[in-house]
Amino acid sequence: MCGIVGYVGGSRSIEVLMEGLQRLEYRGYDSAGLAVQPGEGRLEVLRRVGPLRELERAVAERNGGFGEVLAGIGHTRWATHGRPSEENAHPHVGGDGRVAVVHNGIVENHAELRKGLERRGVGFRSETDTEVIAHLLAERLEGGASLAEAFGEVMEMLEGAFAVAAISADEPGTVVAGRRQSPLVVGLGEGENFLASGVPALLGFTHRFVLVENDEMAVVTRSSVELRRFGGEPVEREPFEVDWDPEAVELGGFPDYMSKEIHEQPQAIRATLDGRLGEDGMVDLSEVGIDLSGVERVVVVACGTAYHAGLLGKYFIERYARVPVEVAVASEYRYSDPVGDPGTLVVAISQSGETTDTLAAVDAAKGCGARVLAITNTRGSLITREADGVLLTRTGPEICVAATKTFVAQVVALDLLAMELGRSRETLAEERLRELVGELRLAPERVQEAIESVSGRLDEASALFEEARCSLFLGRGVAYPVALEGALKLKEISYLPAEGYPAGEMKHGPIALIDERCPVVALFGSGIHREKTLSNVQETVARGARVVAVAFPDDEEASGVASVVLPVPRVPETIVPLVLTVPLQMLAHEVATDRGLDVDKPRNLAKSVTVE
Ligand code: G6P
Repeated sequence: MCGIVGYVGGSRSIEVLMEGLQRLEYRGYDSAGLAVQPGEGRLEVLRRVGPLRELERAVAERNGGFGEVLAGIGHTRWATHGRPSEENAHPHVGGDGRVAVVHNGIVENHAELRKGLERRGVGFRSETDTEVIAHLLAERLEGGASLAEAFGEVMEMLEGAFAVAAISADEPGTVVAGRRQSPLVVGLGEGENFLASGVPALLGFTHRFVLVENDEMAVVTRSSVELRRFGGEPVEREPFEVDWDPEAVELGGFPDYMSKEIHEQPQAIRATLDGRLGEDGMVDLSEVGIDLSGVERVVVVACGTAYHAGLLGKYFIERYARVPVEVAVASEYRYSDPVGDPGTLVVAISQSGETTDTLAAVDAAKGCGARVLAITNTRGSLITREADGVLLTRTGPEICVAATKTFVAQVVALDLLAMELGRSRETLAEERLRELVGELRLAPERVQEAIESVSGRLDEASALFEEARCSLFLGRGVAYPVALEGALKLKEISYLPAEGYPAGEMKHGPIALIDERCPVVALFGSGIHREKTLSNVQETVARGARVVAVAFPDDEEASGVASVVLPVPRVPETIVPLVLTVPLQMLAHEVATDRGLDVDKPRNLAKSVTVE
């Protein structure tokens, strides 16, 4: 939540800051702002409420343009303290506007710090927790400290999670930034340097990065980057290269990132399988570096979409490895006084690798002696540094707030883990394992077929939602977590109430919702679950429901109960959840665009939730 960016260099300052913000906008879009040094001894701040385009307009309309600025910082906000307004927008300034600050995270002791400042006569202009940082810096700068000295001192006074960047009118060409818990990277250039909340923000400008660790800060000029602890001790760290293609964060002809990312799913699955399925028909997860043979229990912790992937993981792990699996929402697990030991493997799933609750769950898991495996899409993210082992999904950056390609990649990663656990615990015979591996290899193609076969039917399916006041997503077995994920996608981007339910449980409550304005989305897999779902769906039809069936094309009974069928290729059970997921993502996209909504930036949400 909230994105920060900083730049020191030549003539492209505004371009870098604005493009960086655009690529960080998924982290929040309540307001956006810039602070720049247009010349020695001056700072200029521009802030606007609403999405980044409002700030873009203000930059374009600014009389005379900015020209070459010496340094700058930028911010895109997801409001925590104080409603979205211009006063609460970052950057915040202190010392009569001579120092400016942007911040991602929460300063937990801000009230106490604010009281102290007010007692010393400082007036506040906003309701934010951030403004205290600006005033504390100003006090120290006025007392003669350098920006870097003042910054380190103030960071040490803060409690909570934060990444902060600051510039001062009196130190042209310098940006300082530091962090605790919230993410921050420094990008390295020639005659220019950058910083941002995440690598994707800077991929258009550099591929070389240095991580800033907890309680560290960077002093950045156009020709140098100096890392130090808040207390001042210097830190040496090697830079790393990121090979993500900057085009991966362009739209490439798609109308929005969500469609682009839905269509990238076959490739995301292929990349996640790459090198992990051996010629011998076995799974190779040696990269994880955790001995899986001693695992006696698995606990999956995650939030949002990643939690739904975890629910699917439970099916596969229990089936192949015969170990009990619990799946916990990370925000609950972290405060649950969890039970664990070295035989417990905690699998923490997080696309971003920076979700606060998931990181706290990892801490809690380590605290009770469990081993932690992180499944994440973000190399070098906070979770990769906390976990004992890491399994990367390799989808490339996901920009749309609603997760799509990272979900299918997480499911594939969990599938691989389940197979490897089964092999190492000798609960999965070699022959069966080879069969499963063979099935998994088909996933990219089958998901591609699902995308194609559903495309022509979306209009008709979306029409059922035109007058809807709510909707029900029903499934059983592996189709149940998919139903939960489908309902989440729809409510996230179309704001239509949607409930995901196990079809068999529907009679214990949700059936009361059914009428012609509550469409039912029914997921038909195969086998016993399909048969039972069919009777449950018939019960809703008898009560006036209109049904969208996601079913195999030759499933005549499913077609018989449905108003619209979204056909998916008939596949083995291992990859059923993948092909059932695709139509639900595409349906949510269609319903939301038919309602004229911005699918990439749904209201009130942010892609990574870095506050509790
Ligand atoms: C937010 C996003 C969701 C995501 C969840 C967990 O709520 O909007 O799309 O599933 O966070 O994020 P993570 O990065 O931990 O997977």
